[in-house]
Amino acid sequence: MSQSPANQRVIIDTDPGLDDAVAILFALACGQFDIVGLTSVAGNIGIEASTRNSLRLLAAMGRSDIPVITGAAKPLRRAGAELVSIHGEDGLGGLALPQPDRAAGSGAVAWMAEQLNAAPAKSLDILALGPLTNLALLVQDHPGAATRIGRVIAMGGAVDEPGNIGARSEYNLATDPEAARIVVTAGLDLTLVPLDVTRRVRVGPAQLAALRGTLAGNLCAEIIALYFGNGRESRPLHDPCVMLLALAPELFGVDQMALQVDAGDGPEAGALERAEGAPPTKVAMRVDAPGAIALLAQGLRG
Ligand code: BDR
Ligand code: CA
Repeated sequence: MSQSPANQRVIIDTDPGLDDAVAILFALACGQFDIVGLTSVAGNIGIEASTRNSLRLLAAMGRSDIPVITGAAKPLRRAGAELVSIHGEDGLGGLALPQPDRAAGSGAVAWMAEQLNAAPAKSLDILALGPLTNLALLVQDHPGAATRIGRVIAMGGAVDEPGNIGARSEYNLATDPEAARIVVTAGLDLTLVPLDVTRRVRVGPAQLAALRGTLAGNLCAEIIALYFGNGRESRPLHDPCVMLLALAPELFGVDQMALQVDAGDGPEAGALERAEGAPPTKVAMRVDAPGAIALLAQGLRG
């Protein structure tokens, strides 16, 4: 599938969320990740539904062996803002999935720290699909463990592309700008996957058939159809781009940028700003979109 090493060990930090669900299903189906656990965070939907949706997706895929641990119930200093208009009242557009077959664990941040301390340094990556609250708490409360993270690949931000919350701000970073600021300036091996890339990786009705044919593929096609919502022609697959970049970096053009996050009270809170002297962040700015969609379809076939 790609030149990258097989079975990358990852924690998926997520707020499912329709596009989160596609990303998780792809990660489960493609056979290239060793998923150590899913940590939930409040974002698209509140923490209870976010956690429950992770459990339901794993139950649907027969993977209830993968731990789910409940994370932050709200951003560090702000009220959260659920996106029920996009992701539905339950966060998954009313998708029919099994009920959770077990309870989630609690204390995602301490759990992440334990996993990082137990694993060889730099051997465990974090794939972040939601607001960066859990990761910021890890950096603040467990700095030693945070230095042991391999890569952090996070969907978030907008650089040359308009935002989807403010003119320059994107949902994941705008929901918890203080957390985003901590993570962006922590000196982690961080790759941001902003709207500049994710808006190019789109699936429309004509492509759904190519995704179908397996349990994961059929579920993804159903989820993406729900994601079309109010009759839109195609939808961007924001969060799946994180998994695709982790597996196939050659499909992406990544630039180094010195960045800061606007953590003010204005409408652009969460926006990325250039900041001379800030530690370099890798930012995916270009993508081979047909290649990315082909990899998605291939991964869903297993
Ligand atoms: C991000 O916001 C959420 O609605 C999506 O799940 C994605 O993580 C896109 O801005
Ligand atoms: Ca998300």
